[in-house]
Amino acid sequence: MKIKKAVFPVAGLGTRFLPATKAMAKEMLPVVDKPLIQYAVEEAFDAGIEQIIFVTGRGKKALEDHFDRCFEVELTLQNKGKKELLKQIQELVPKTGTIVYTRQNEPLGLGHAIWCARDIVGDEPFAVLLADDLIQTDKPVLTEMVKKFDRFRASIAAVMEVDNDQTDKYGILDAVKLENNIFQINDMVEKPVPAEAPSNLAIIGRYILTPSIFQHLGKKEKGAGGEIQLTDAMKALLKEQPIFGYKFEGTRFDCGDKAGFQMANLAFALERPDMREKLIHFIREIQQNF
Ligand code: G1P
Repeated sequence: MKIKKAVFPVAGLGTRFLPATKAMAKEMLPVVDKPLIQYAVEEAFDAGIEQIIFVTGRGKKALEDHFDRCFEVELTLQNKGKKELLKQIQELVPKTGTIVYTRQNEPLGLGHAIWCARDIVGDEPFAVLLADDLIQTDKPVLTEMVKKFDRFRASIAAVMEVDNDQTDKYGILDAVKLENNIFQINDMVEKPVPAEAPSNLAIIGRYILTPSIFQHLGKKEKGAGGEIQLTDAMKALLKEQPIFGYKFEGTRFDCGDKAGFQMANLAFALERPDMREKLIHFIREIQQNF
């Protein structure tokens, strides 16, 4: 049972990034020089995923074009002899027929977005990646989760500890540690206020789910924020099957948040040899005014 399909819910309006996202998909916002969505798609392919399923909405044309060939740009780069850039531009386009698009035509929440992909996923375990969660790591999270799936043959969510006052931003777990970076989940709750949070262990946007999740998502029960929540469906699934948490290594940036997005840009830019020195110099300079 190989994990071959990955679902990317990308229908969100990105209101937090207006006006930048008025005519552009928020997933196309670049971290350094690569759109957020491309980091997630590359992570999926690196983990052995063969089919990318985008659950889109209106105004996401740029996203579709990004993963398609662009002969005009390719020709220009070729004529200018920019071979390296040409290679990059060509390589980011997945093999023909490996991307599928479907639409979430009502903004009913993350759980509903995943449910929209049910017929394309079919009866097999699959991955879900939320592009807003960008993780800088030497151990790509989905690759590690696929390895854990091979071992446990059960649904898995990526998890990390968050500050106690931040629990109302996440799906929060009641879980016991099985070993080093693996938790067995007993219960979970979407966006609890700190006083009601069972822990500070939060779900981060990488999941491997068994197809049984669709039965629970199909009930379309509304949860936190009046939305159909993936966390609620997973909580229901827990009554039938075990679900594990994988505490990943690395730094996670919340790119759905303006400050988190800027931090991601800085952290990823500092990894680039052509920018590192200039940035360090700049940081030292402005630090004197803090
Ligand atoms: C979603 C999930 C939440 C999870 C979070 C991770 O929330 O509903 O359980 O902890 O992603 O980023 P959202 O950020 O879409 O509100």
